[in-house]
Amino acid sequence: MDSKTMAARVEELLSGMTLEEKAAQMIQVPYAIVGREEALRWARLGAGSFLHVLGDDAREIQKTAMEESRLGIPVIFGIDAVHGHSLNDHATIFPSQLAAACSFDPDVAYVMGQVTAREVATDGLHWTFAPVLCLGRDTRWGRIDETFGEDPYLAGEMGAAIIRGFQGDDLADGEHILACAKHYIGYGEAVGARDACDTEMTYRKLREVFLPPFKKAVDAGVGSVMTAYGAIDGTPFTVDRTSLKDILRGELGFDGFVVTDWDNVNALVRRQHVAETARQASVMAAKAGNDMIMTSTQFYDAVIEAVRAGELEESVLDEAVRHILTVKLRMNLFEKPEKAGRPGCLGCAEHLAAAKDASDRSLVLLTNNGVLPLQPSVRKVAVIGSNADDIRAQYGDWTYFTHPTPNPEHEPVRPYVTVKEGVEAACAKRGMACVYHRGCSVLDSEDEDIAGAVEAARDADAIVLVVGDVIAQTGEEKDRAVLELSGRQMELFDALRALGMPLITVLVASKPLAVGRAATDADAFLCAFNGGLFGGEAVAKALFGEINPSGRLPISFPRASGQVPVYYNSLPGWHKQAGKGYCDLPDTPLYAFGEGMGYSAFAYDGLTFDAQTLEAGVNVTNTGSMTGTETVQAYFHDVVSSVLTPVKQLIAFRQVTLAPGETAHVTFRFTREDFSLVNRREQRVTEPGEFELMIGHSSRDGDLLKASFRL
Ligand code: BGC
Repeated sequence: MDSKTMAARVEELLSGMTLEEKAAQMIQVPYAIVGREEALRWARLGAGSFLHVLGDDAREIQKTAMEESRLGIPVIFGIDAVHGHSLNDHATIFPSQLAAACSFDPDVAYVMGQVTAREVATDGLHWTFAPVLCLGRDTRWGRIDETFGEDPYLAGEMGAAIIRGFQGDDLADGEHILACAKHYIGYGEAVGARDACDTEMTYRKLREVFLPPFKKAVDAGVGSVMTAYGAIDGTPFTVDRTSLKDILRGELGFDGFVVTDWDNVNALVRRQHVAETARQASVMAAKAGNDMIMTSTQFYDAVIEAVRAGELEESVLDEAVRHILTVKLRMNLFEKPEKAGRPGCLGCAEHLAAAKDASDRSLVLLTNNGVLPLQPSVRKVAVIGSNADDIRAQYGDWTYFTHPTPNPEHEPVRPYVTVKEGVEAACAKRGMACVYHRGCSVLDSEDEDIAGAVEAARDADAIVLVVGDVIAQTGEEKDRAVLELSGRQMELFDALRALGMPLITVLVASKPLAVGRAATDADAFLCAFNGGLFGGEAVAKALFGEINPSGRLPISFPRASGQVPVYYNSLPGWHKQAGKGYCDLPDTPLYAFGEGMGYSAFAYDGLTFDAQTLEAGVNVTNTGSMTGTETVQAYFHDVVSSVLTPVKQLIAFRQVTLAPGETAHVTFRFTREDFSLVNRREQRVTEPGEFELMIGHSSRDGDLLKASFRL
């Protein structure tokens, strides 16, 4: 259907709708909360959407909506398929967004989106509330795992790619689903990292740091955007017309529909206290540009009354319903209310292979004194730590263990491989011995046995200690004030370290923790975050050199909780420039954005930059003895500018795979906008003057070659 015919069809539908039907079209009903009977009642009223309902339950609702509501407008079903269609226990579970971002490869995100879409579609659903485009800057926040890390450029590249994977070229085909860029905007920046609290942000900062990933999402054609829980300068994001109407629609040209986050309209009354009644809150939300109202079903009666009382123009509802119906038509839901998907594709071999690849690519090796890959002289490996064999911790948030209602008792569904199982299999294959002991749990518990773990490890040749966090420490309302290893994990490390044998620490966690000496005093430190189904197998492959770890950190590791936030693209300050940090700690991270090593090493030389063509080139050589993949990172710094600008900002990266001794000439072509800033008048401009281009292995100064130039 061309856009003209589609617009005409929307107007035709709209003209036949009553006020009640328009209000209902704007409602998204939470199935797991209201239950079947109430859900069916909403379907008959013509509710526009339902969330968190799968398979046959969804089919029943769709049938009811289409056959028993007056107009038979199809329902659009949404679900949080954020790292795979993971609320379904047979789906392919990918690494978290944070872990996937370690690949620094948008293709990994694209495939993740494509596979997830296919599996969601096969369950009869249309829409995922993903990707998260919030930035993970304050790592105390409970939802760091859901982000693509701390950097707007990387988050935008990964975000646009996963959106293309979800939505494909044509939303009407049977295998692609609607994506949702969330949470608009600045949600992760809440004060003190306290989930859903206010955000200290100006519109200038919003445009400079937080808007770019959403711009890329809109440019990639994202069909829906979800508002955030927080507030900007005292105005809840859900009712902030400037960001929703002027910026998102007006400037970015977003043409899909906006959905609130969970119960945002009620929160205006009960939590944020900017409205006295549901009616007031509903009017505010509708006027600000929210098209679909998630879970606050009171909105239905409230807006109907408000329109009747002359407090709200019916045209506001028309506009919202227009946006929703347009997407439903783009998706061809009127003709094909159920996506075809690919019967039998949930967890099929092709999808599992994609998840394995993503897990492999998400590993970041951060220190290694040569202990890895494990040498043939190692005949027995001791795997220690409860996270080595905890599939819930390996998955992290947003699976059938955590949503739609927490269910940690759910029987884990194979195929998955924990670190323990991966190392056991790798040892068996090589005729080596392997022993496992949990030592202690991640949270304090009664049955700790550190002495037992030491005994188990005593006659091994190498220890693999897995530390991290568990799902009780991850997600909404699970922000952490203390990022140091919880429970007795550090004590366990010290006791094992005292054995004096090769010790490799592996981090299975939702975020960068303040791992301290558990990383720096280990012989090697491997970061695995939440690696999905095959996270444990990937770790084993890396330990034995079956894969050459190639991930890079999309987020910085703090030395201590009190150092947070410690993101690389900070603004310059006096003390920082004097080379000082805190009086008791440096202000540099323990591990920096972009960092990561493998079993190869790369040397850089010959940086060139042409200020006329804005083309740069650099030679990269693999000086190691194993084929490896390097992520060549380009940063810039505006030397003198009208406002403070970051000490460096990523503007591009390229990956090259090189054989031992091989050199590649890697080139970049920039635009003037790549060197831009947002000025005090909130305009994105490139100011003339001196700049620095930095290209190299990571965001650390010592890893970068520099070229100065003038624009
Ligand atoms: C979260 C969203 C999610 C929604 C629906 C909210 O609490 O903030 O990210 O999509 O619930 O599950």
